Amino acid sequence: MIEHVPVLIGEILDIYRAYPSRGHVLDCTLGLGGYAEAILSSSDARLIGIDQDEQALAFSRDRLRRFGDRFDGVKANFRSLPEEVTSRAPFGAFFFDLGVSNLQLTDDARGFSFQSDGPLDMRMDLASNRSAADIVNSGTEGEIADIFWKYGEERHSRRLARAIVRHREAVGSIMRTETLVAVIRGALPAPVQRKMGGHPARRVFQALRIAVNEELCALQEGLQAIPSLAAPGALLFVVSYHSLEDRIVKTVFRLWKEQGRGEILSKRLIRPSSDEVESNRKSRSAKLRVFRFNP
Ligand SMILES: C[S@@+](CC[C@H](N)C(=O)[O-])C[C@H]1O[C@@H](n2cnc3c(N)ncnc32)[C@H](O)[C@@H]1O
Repeated sequence: MIEHVPVLIGEILDIYRAYPSRGHVLDCTLGLGGYAEAILSSSDARLIGIDQDEQALAFSRDRLRRFGDRFDGVKANFRSLPEEVTSRAPFGAFFFDLGVSNLQLTDDARGFSFQSDGPLDMRMDLASNRSAADIVNSGTEGEIADIFWKYGEERHSRRLARAIVRHREAVGSIMRTETLVAVIRGALPAPVQRKMGGHPARRVFQALRIAVNEELCALQEGLQAIPSLAAPGALLFVVSYHSLEDRIVKTVFRLWKEQGRGEILSKRLIRPSSDEVESNRKSRSAKLRVFRFNP
């Protein structure tokens, strides 16, 4: 049974209810449908949920069936929304809950987790054609190191990239998550691993996932499209899980404010309570920012 605890949902609903909004709701990261269910049950809004992951869509369509035609799920990437979605603008609220879902993380066959063995895949959209194994096995040492540094802020990026290339030459391609974890562990002396705080493969896995799914470009492009789809007074909620994402959101919100498009409601970053972090570990790095377009 998949656990689907929506992160910061209490804080989100408080703000959503405080500002009456018109138009449909667009959930750009439907995932397991946690936010969608909360919005559909606590208002009479119609909600369109998109996800690039067919499996997430199938799960959510089933979960949200009882809402009938108030819910519609569409397979799409938020970096280029299809006409099927944009034709339903203007929207009164938008949700971005970035990163991976529990469905992706707990399915070993998807290769997102460094905690269990699976194919080195990490594609959110199974129809896309570049997996983590493609990057690890065909990138040059320099390209791999750059990805680890840029998207994982991994201090040992060069050393790890060198170990990967050596493994490729001496043993063969790295096709399993377990093999990659073993190569990482083998490249870092025990005292270095202890100092890293957390799993030694955590940053490498984050970097590969971001690169495979082009997450930062997608976020930038996805946010750029929002103003033209927003109804007067529309709310935009973005929950991010690492500083690279949060920096993009912060910069875009500031720019919109300077351009006089609306106000930043999250004057101070909104973080989960200690109770939430205790009951849902995944929420510990979550940061919520909220923008309201001019009414
Ligand atoms: C953290 S989960 C969302 C969880 C959801 N809020 C809930 O309550 O169940 C993120 C989801 O966004 C999807 N996703 C990530 N980037 C995307 C993109 N560029 N376009 C469409 N979906 C994306 C992932 O496939 C994943 O299912």
